[in-house]
Amino acid sequence: MADNRIFIFDTTLRDGEQVPGCKLNANEKIELALKLEELGVDILEAGFPISSPGDFKSVQEIANVIKNATVCALTRAVQKDIEVAAEAIKNAKRARIHTGIGVSDYHIKGKFNSNREDILKRAVQCIKWARNYTDDIEFFGEDSGRADNEYLARVIEAVIAAGATTVNIPDTTGYCLPHQYGEKIAYLANNVPNIDKAVISCHCHNDLGLATANSIAGIMNGARQIECTINGLGERAGNTALEEVVMIIRQHSSLGFYTNINAKMLNPMSRLVSDTMRMPVQPNKAIVGANAFSHSSGIHQDGFLKDALNYEIINPEEVGAEMSKIVLTARSGRSALAHRFSKLGYQFDRNGIDVLYERFLKVADQKKEVVEEDLHKLAKEYQPVPVQ
Ligand code: KIV
Ligand code: ZN
Repeated sequence: MADNRIFIFDTTLRDGEQVPGCKLNANEKIELALKLEELGVDILEAGFPISSPGDFKSVQEIANVIKNATVCALTRAVQKDIEVAAEAIKNAKRARIHTGIGVSDYHIKGKFNSNREDILKRAVQCIKWARNYTDDIEFFGEDSGRADNEYLARVIEAVIAAGATTVNIPDTTGYCLPHQYGEKIAYLANNVPNIDKAVISCHCHNDLGLATANSIAGIMNGARQIECTINGLGERAGNTALEEVVMIIRQHSSLGFYTNINAKMLNPMSRLVSDTMRMPVQPNKAIVGANAFSHSSGIHQDGFLKDALNYEIINPEEVGAEMSKIVLTARSGRSALAHRFSKLGYQFDRNGIDVLYERFLKVADQKKEVVEEDLHKLAKEYQPVPVQ
């Protein structure tokens, strides 16, 4: 089983914090870092220390308080960045430097005005600089998603030979289809001669809504680390959502993978990140959205009330969410109405429910949701028989 452990690399505090409006102060970062450690993340990307004195300080403070997770700092392939990152994480129990450079022709030409051979040399050089400070070095080949696989394989072989112990293959622009990303990982797993000396990591962006699918395709083809964020926060359309990959791995046990994440903390963690970063979670967000365990149409409600498994693949308790909800709207049916009445202590026979259902529909057509107060009113007008 050891081979099938998927390392969870959380980048909420780095890629997630790059989102406009999500900026955190040092205390907020420390609070989130401690909670992420409790959640069970394996690697915690604390920030990009050269980017500002404030970020340097918060990375340093996180490195001082985190005990179990590896604390990681991001750098460009620039000597000064690496020196500053190493200084920020020097007190960490486990420290990782995450360094790298763009490897697609778009980045090589359009960003660096360079050529493939020069970029390969710079990739190797940054690993050599990082080796002066730690043995735990992760290389990222930015825009690997659009990079030529043969060239990418040469870069990856060279950085592993230079000392990289994790190789991150980011789909920086969220461009790949799941089968393409999976094939890219398989290509590296099969064509880089020294690949057994490093862990392959997926870092997928969500520009086409495929980040989670691509990360899963990555691990199915040889990757053993997923880089992700709580609530899928991150640049532009965001990163892979931690809660999604963790629950896919748990739900599909036939894949044979496992993580160290405490799933019961997923919903509380999502709320904490959302409140601290002042970024609301969309209601229909998988696992942690307000509607993830709500049932509102008559057909679904009836089936759910007969057996929750008819309409729920996850027990909300397993992910620390509130109990499943039966929401009353104009699309709800009689069984949902009777269920909600009985929860409030009212019982009606079939005929009573028929009459009340007609009245309920009139209220429901005027409101988005019929709430407890409306139900009490309907029941009282009907002369209810309270349950003893
Ligand atoms: O998306 C990306 O390529 C990144 C790298 C810096 C790892 O965030
Ligand atoms: Zn990214």
